[in-house]
Amino acid sequence: MLKYDNEQLIHWMDGIRENPDMVNCFWASQIHSKEWLCDWVKSFLPSANRIIVFGSWYGVLADMLKIKLPNSQIMCVDKDHKPLLWSARKHAYWLGEMQYFEYETNVDLVINTSTEHMTQWEYDTWYNNIPVNTYFVVQGNNDFKEKDHVRACNGLTEFREKSNIVNCLHSGVLEYEGPWDKIENKPTVYERYMAIGFKDNNDRKN
Ligand SMILES: C[S@@+](CC[C@H](N)C(=O)[O-])C[C@H]1O[C@@H](n2cnc3c(N)ncnc32)[C@H](O)[C@@H]1O
Repeated sequence: MLKYDNEQLIHWMDGIRENPDMVNCFWASQIHSKEWLCDWVKSFLPSANRIIVFGSWYGVLADMLKIKLPNSQIMCVDKDHKPLLWSARKHAYWLGEMQYFEYETNVDLVINTSTEHMTQWEYDTWYNNIPVNTYFVVQGNNDFKEKDHVRACNGLTEFREKSNIVNCLHSGVLEYEGPWDKIENKPTVYERYMAIGFKDNNDRKN
């Protein structure tokens, strides 16, 4: 389990005071899915050093990864300048649409936990742009109800196919609670999907 010190806690609270919608990064499902990812990176790719987090939002995943892998150099990429500028207080950053990112230095690992927020064309363009011989970790979910989710998936198999996980190191499913179902009076349960792949010469999504 990740442990957070006072400095980290104060940084996140300052972020929420300046940007009240940052509080949405701290739903239990958000934190659990990020910790799940940090655990996998530590287990499967412990020597990943140069890491880019695409769709980085307020940089909470980048903050958590830095705790798990203290020697890593993390860059945050987002098209929305407000959350990105907050994450820029701690990490390198690039403002823009991830599918147009220009890789200028070598990178060990790219991460995208915002795949449900992108069209398939945006995903494919982002994927094709990943340099060969690079590991990538992607997350998505099956929450079709959220209005911003344009690329939710029906199950892990569909997620892996749509995400072009050809050389798959590992993939899995984590259940999480969405909003309370007031009609049935029970929680809504969704699935989050995650896969680690390795992009080699032949991988291209058409
Ligand atoms: C709601 S947030 C994060 C949700 C995600 N499930 C997570 O927990 O990381 C989605 C972020 O992705 C960013 N985003 C979506 N499409 C993008 C794109 N094409 N390029 C860069 N950032 C993008 C948005 O600006 C936003 O900050």
